[in-house]
Amino acid sequence: MEEIERVLNEALKFVVPSEEEYRRAKEAEEELKRRLEEVLKKYPQLEYRFLGSYARDTWLRGNLEIDVFILFPEDTPMEELERIGLEVGKAVVDEYELRYAAHPYVHGLVKGVEVDVVPCYKLKSAERIKSAVDRTPFHHDWLKDRVKGKENEVRLLKRFLKVAGIYGAEYKVRGFSGYLCELLVVFYGSFLNVIRNATEWTRNTVIDVPAGKVYRKKGSGFFVVDPVDPKRNVAANLSLDNLARFVLLCREFLKKPSIEFFLEKDFEVPSDEVLAEEIEKRGTGLCAVVFERPDVVEDNLYPQLEKACRRIEEFLRRENFLPLRSGFFAGEKCVLLFETQVRELARIRRHEGPPFEEEEHVERFLKKERNYRPFLEGGKLWVYVERRNCRVEEAIADLIRREWKGMGKNVGEKLREGFEVLVGRDVLKIEEGEFKKFLVDFLCIKCERLL
Ligand code: UTP
Ligand code: MN
Ligand code: MN
Ligand code: MN
Repeated sequence: MEEIERVLNEALKFVVPSEEEYRRAKEAEEELKRRLEEVLKKYPQLEYRFLGSYARDTWLRGNLEIDVFILFPEDTPMEELERIGLEVGKAVVDEYELRYAAHPYVHGLVKGVEVDVVPCYKLKSAERIKSAVDRTPFHHDWLKDRVKGKENEVRLLKRFLKVAGIYGAEYKVRGFSGYLCELLVVFYGSFLNVIRNATEWTRNTVIDVPAGKVYRKKGSGFFVVDPVDPKRNVAANLSLDNLARFVLLCREFLKKPSIEFFLEKDFEVPSDEVLAEEIEKRGTGLCAVVFERPDVVEDNLYPQLEKACRRIEEFLRRENFLPLRSGFFAGEKCVLLFETQVRELARIRRHEGPPFEEEEHVERFLKKERNYRPFLEGGKLWVYVERRNCRVEEAIADLIRREWKGMGKNVGEKLREGFEVLVGRDVLKIEEGEFKKFLVDFLCIKCERLL
């Protein structure tokens, strides 16, 4: 107990923003307000509100980002909201880029501080929401007073998750959103109580926040009821394995509390020679399909890559290559990675024919021109036929050329334009630094911790 308190106290140093960060934030906030007042003179029907973690003082040290929402009257046409939303956004930030949530919005800098300017509808009740961002004002109103005094508890949870690589609800991460963190802290009362209770969570756990109850319900999936919209699962984007990852981590932390759980980890990636040796030693088929990255946002790209991977893995299983795992990587290029227990299959395979009782079918089967004589087994006819492709890389390439259409719209189109399949140690030729990290993780290789 004492040990845990000591650890959490130390962890505060890493999660609470510095005075300097608060000062920078305040200055940017004031400048942003001035600019907004100015621009919104032109649009008297619009309001702005500061929402998100900055407005609630729950942002993580070193991750300052101000979320400001532009509220439009409910009867504004969608395209007008988008157009004016972007116009206002561009007018109030110094440098901007477009980002995409429910609608496109502006991300930029004000006095060097990151700012999101997001348009949404101003609604009387959360039941009328038109898109996910319209819930945000209601989220804020629900949390504002409830989270007071617990800001640092939220920060501890965010950091704990971030270090584990599961903070953020975007598709790339499929972890815990900021809002989910705040809800959990409010529901359980503290960081430590979240951790303690999480050790008992299952894939069927329902945390009914508005009802103040936790129960299990078959088939629901891990479900956190949104207090402002009870049909909505706040944990909808949390993947099953990331839920599991979190539960395991919580048990581990309580057994052996340590500051390590709050420190970013870096692993030493083994040299290419060591990796090549490992790939050789495993005796598996390792294939990387490399192709150009389609120009679409990550939340669109990742599900497509996942689909392409799944298609190819299912094919490999059907064709008896005994796949171990598949995975994907998106950097400058996209990579689909497959590891199989079989690298090369025999030239021939057995093909099933009709049972002897079916006279007509048997006759047709026997009439076919073939390289081998059919045989009987279990009262059925069988025959050896030649495989299209014996080597795993050839089989994959052939499948993609035939079935690129089923591999996601944009990913499929890029695959049709061209791809390269690298095999075995040749996958190490993929130059991107982050890819090696991904590969090491994919192969489950144990690495030395740095620092
Ligand atoms: P943020 O992603 O900025 O989260 O979205 P946050 O709660 O402020 O946490 P951190 O500290 O920045 O990580 C702010 C709010 O905007 C809405 C969500 O309701 C969220 O609570 N939002 C944001 C969306 O609905 N969709 C998005 O893509 C982004
Ligand atoms: Mn934010
Ligand atoms: Mn954010
Ligand atoms: Mn944001």
